[in-house]
Amino acid sequence: MACYALVPAAGGGSRMGSACPKQYLPLAGQPLIRHALATLCAVPAIARVFVVLAPDDQQWPGCQYLAAKLRVLRRGGATRAKSVANGLRAMDGVSDDDWVLVHDAARACLSVAHVEQLIRDVGDDPVGGILAVPVADTLKRARADGRIAATVPREGLWQAQTPQMFRRGMLLRALEAAPAVTDEASAIEALGLHPKLVAADATNLKVTYPLDLRLAEWILANRNEDER
Ligand code: CTP
Ligand code: MG
Repeated sequence: MACYALVPAAGGGSRMGSACPKQYLPLAGQPLIRHALATLCAVPAIARVFVVLAPDDQQWPGCQYLAAKLRVLRRGGATRAKSVANGLRAMDGVSDDDWVLVHDAARACLSVAHVEQLIRDVGDDPVGGILAVPVADTLKRARADGRIAATVPREGLWQAQTPQMFRRGMLLRALEAAPAVTDEASAIEALGLHPKLVAADATNLKVTYPLDLRLAEWILANRNEDER
C-alpha cells in the first residue's frame, strides 16, 4: 500500500491577527507553508503530497523545487474537515486502501524523523494513528468567572498533533458521517474505532498565535542534524 500526504492550507489564520493568512507569513526565510511541504516531500515513503488551497487563493507562492511530488488542489472548504474531505475526494491516482497522512500546513516544524516514526508504527495497523504528546501540565477546568472549578487528572491524556494517518476510503467515510470534527482521529473514533497514539514532541507545534512564529523560528534554527 502506498502512502500519500494531504495538507489542508485553506484557513484564514484569524488567531494570528495578520492581514495575510498565516501559511504565507515569512518563517526562517520562506513562506511558512513551504517548511511542512518540503519535509513531507523529503520522506521517501510518501509518493505524492497534495496541498488543499482556498479556491480564490491569490497568495500561493508555488514550490518549483518540490514540483515533482507536489499537487495543488484548489478545493478548500469552510472548515478544516471540509477542506480535508474535499482533498480526499480530489486526490487522483490514490486508491481507497492507500494511506493518507493529513498534516496541518501550520505545523511547520514537522521533522522527517517523526513522519517516518508514524509510518513505521502505523503501517500495518488496521485502524491508523496520529502523532501526539502526553500532557505534561496539571490541567484545570475553569468556571465562567475565571476561577477553578476542578482539577482534571492528566493521566492518560494526550495532545493530538498531525500528521494523522488513515486509509483514504475509511477516512472519507468517517468525515462524511461526522463533518463537525476538528481532527481526523475524532471522525474515526466516531465510527467506534481506536486510532494508535505515536509519541512525538513539543517541537511539532501548530503555529496559531504570533508568539508561535518566534518559537517555530527558534526550533528550525536550533535543530540538530539527527532531528531533521
Ligand atoms: N484549514 C483549512 N481549511 C479551513 C480551515 C483551516 O484547510 N477552512 C487548515 C489551515 O490552513 C491550517 C490547518 O487547517 O493549515 C489547521 O487549522 P488552524 O491552525 O486552525 O488554521 P486557521 O483555521 O487558518 O487559523 P484560525 O483557526 O486561527 O483562523
Ligand atoms: Mg482554524
